[in-house]
Amino acid sequence: MKLYETSFVAVSLKMIEWFRMKRSDKSNTVKKAIMPEKPNTLTFKQTLKMRRNYVGRSCKLHYEVAPLKIVRGSKQYLYDDSGNEYLDCVNNISHVGHCHPHVVNAGQEQMSKLMTCFGFLSDLQVAYAKRIVEMLPENLCVCYFLNSGAYHGNTENLIKISPSRLKQHNMPIDDWVHVVPCPDVYRGKYREDNVSPGHLYANEVKVAIAKALDKGRTISAFICEPVMTSAGTVVPPANFFKLVYRYVREAGGVCIADEVQTGLGRCGEAYWAFESHDVVPDIITLGKPMGNGHPMSMVVTTKEISDSLKEFSSAYGGNPVACAMGMAVLDVIRNEHLLSSAKSVGKCLKDGFQAILQKHRLMGDVRGAGMLVGVEIVEDKESRKPNKDAAEALVYKLKEKKIITSNEGPDKNVIIFQPPMCFTCENAATVVKAVDDALTEVEEEDRQVSMSSDIIVPLSVITASKHKLSSDDEDDDDEYESPSKRFYEGVD
Ligand SMILES: Cc1ncc(COP(=O)(O)O)c(C=O)c1O
Repeated sequence: MKLYETSFVAVSLKMIEWFRMKRSDKSNTVKKAIMPEKPNTLTFKQTLKMRRNYVGRSCKLHYEVAPLKIVRGSKQYLYDDSGNEYLDCVNNISHVGHCHPHVVNAGQEQMSKLMTCFGFLSDLQVAYAKRIVEMLPENLCVCYFLNSGAYHGNTENLIKISPSRLKQHNMPIDDWVHVVPCPDVYRGKYREDNVSPGHLYANEVKVAIAKALDKGRTISAFICEPVMTSAGTVVPPANFFKLVYRYVREAGGVCIADEVQTGLGRCGEAYWAFESHDVVPDIITLGKPMGNGHPMSMVVTTKEISDSLKEFSSAYGGNPVACAMGMAVLDVIRNEHLLSSAKSVGKCLKDGFQAILQKHRLMGDVRGAGMLVGVEIVEDKESRKPNKDAAEALVYKLKEKKIITSNEGPDKNVIIFQPPMCFTCENAATVVKAVDDALTEVEEEDRQVSMSSDIIVPLSVITASKHKLSSDDEDDDDEYESPSKRFYEGVD
C-alpha cells in the first residue's frame, strides 16, 4: 500500500511538472502578446482586449462607447488609470464612501481571523441580525442572510416578475404575474394634475386583484420598491402604498418592499424608504449598501412567514467577514450622521436642479427622495416624450466633465444621481453646474441637427463619433493610453 502510494505520488508529480511546462509555454506566448510583468499594469487597450477575450459579452460595461478603467476609489471619488478624478454619482453600493477605512479595517481584521461559510454559531452574525431587527418595526424580526439578490433577471422566476426584463428577453407575462401601471405622476397614466393620483394608481391594483380572483386565482404577494430607483427615480404619490397594502392583504397576499437600493438611509432621515409611506411591509429585501461593496444581502420578515419556510441555505450568506463589514457600515452611518446628511445634501442637489429646470428645454422633471435624485430628459416640456439620445449624450458629456452618472428608466431617459452618502452640498453644486453646461451643449447640438435638412443624424451618433478611435489609433496596439478617446468596438 505504501509503495503504491509513493509511486502514485511520483507519477502525479511528473504529470504536474508536465502540465506546468505546458502552461508556462502557453502563458509565455500570451505574456508576450498582452501580459505585462506585474498585474495592474496592463494598458487600457490590453485590458479591453482581455475583457473581450475572456469575459462574457452579455456583461455590459458602463459607458459602452468609451469605457473607463477605474483603478482606485476614495470617499465619493473614483480615479482612472491616468489619475483623473471623477465625482461618483452612481455608486450607491459604496454607501458610506469608497474604501471607508472603518469598513476596510473591519473586513481585513476579520479576514485574518476567520472566514467560513459553514453553519457554525457566530457572534458577529447574531449581533448584526439583532442590530438590523432593532432598526425595523416590531413585526419584521427574522433575518435571512444572503450575498446577492439575483434580481437582475438571472433566475427564471425573477425574470418573470421583472417587467423590464421580460421586455428585454421578449417573453410573455405569465398568468400568475400581474403587472400594474407604474405610479409615475410625471409621465404615467395619472399625473400630478389629478386630485389624488395615489388613489387612482392604487385602484389599478385593486382592479388587477379583482380580475385575478375572478379567474379563480389567489393573490400571494405584491412586490415593489418604495421609491423606484432604476425604473427612473419614481416616487409613488401619497396614499398609494397605504391603499395597495390594504387591498393586497384583504385578498390574502403579503407585501414585499424591495429596499435593496433605497435602504439604510438613502432616501433621507429614516433608515427605510417604506417609512415615508407610512406602511409596514411583511417582507423586506436588503442588499447593495449593506457591505459597502462587499457582497451582502438579507431578507427580513415576520415570524409567521419565516416559520412557514422549511429549509433555507445560502453558501456565503452571513459569513463573518460580511457581518463585520456590515456592522462597520452601520457604525459609520450613525457616527457620521449620514441619514440627516442624505436629507440636506439631497435637497441641495434637487434644489440646484430645480433652479435650472425652466432654463433647459430638454429638462422635463426633477424628482427624488434624499440622496436619490433623477432628472428626466424629454424632447420638449409640452410633449414630455422621453429623449433617450439626449440623455445618453448628456451622460457622456458629464463623463468628460469628470462626473459619473447613468441614464436609467424604461426609456433610458432619466439621469440618476445616487452618490455615496458622504457626498456634500459643494459636490452637488459642482454637479448642477456641470449638468447645466452639458445640457446647454446637448441642446445646441440638438438644435443644429434639427436645422439640418439634408442628413438626419441621431444625437447619440454625433456624440459617439467624438469618442471613436481614428483608423491610425486602431492599428496602434500597445501605445494607446488616452482614457477619454476610446471606442470599444475599435479595439481588435
Ligand atoms: C431594486 C433592486 N433590487 C434588487 C437588486 C438585486 O441585487 P443583486 O444584483 O444583488 O441581485 C437590485 C440590483 O440592482 C436592485 O436594483
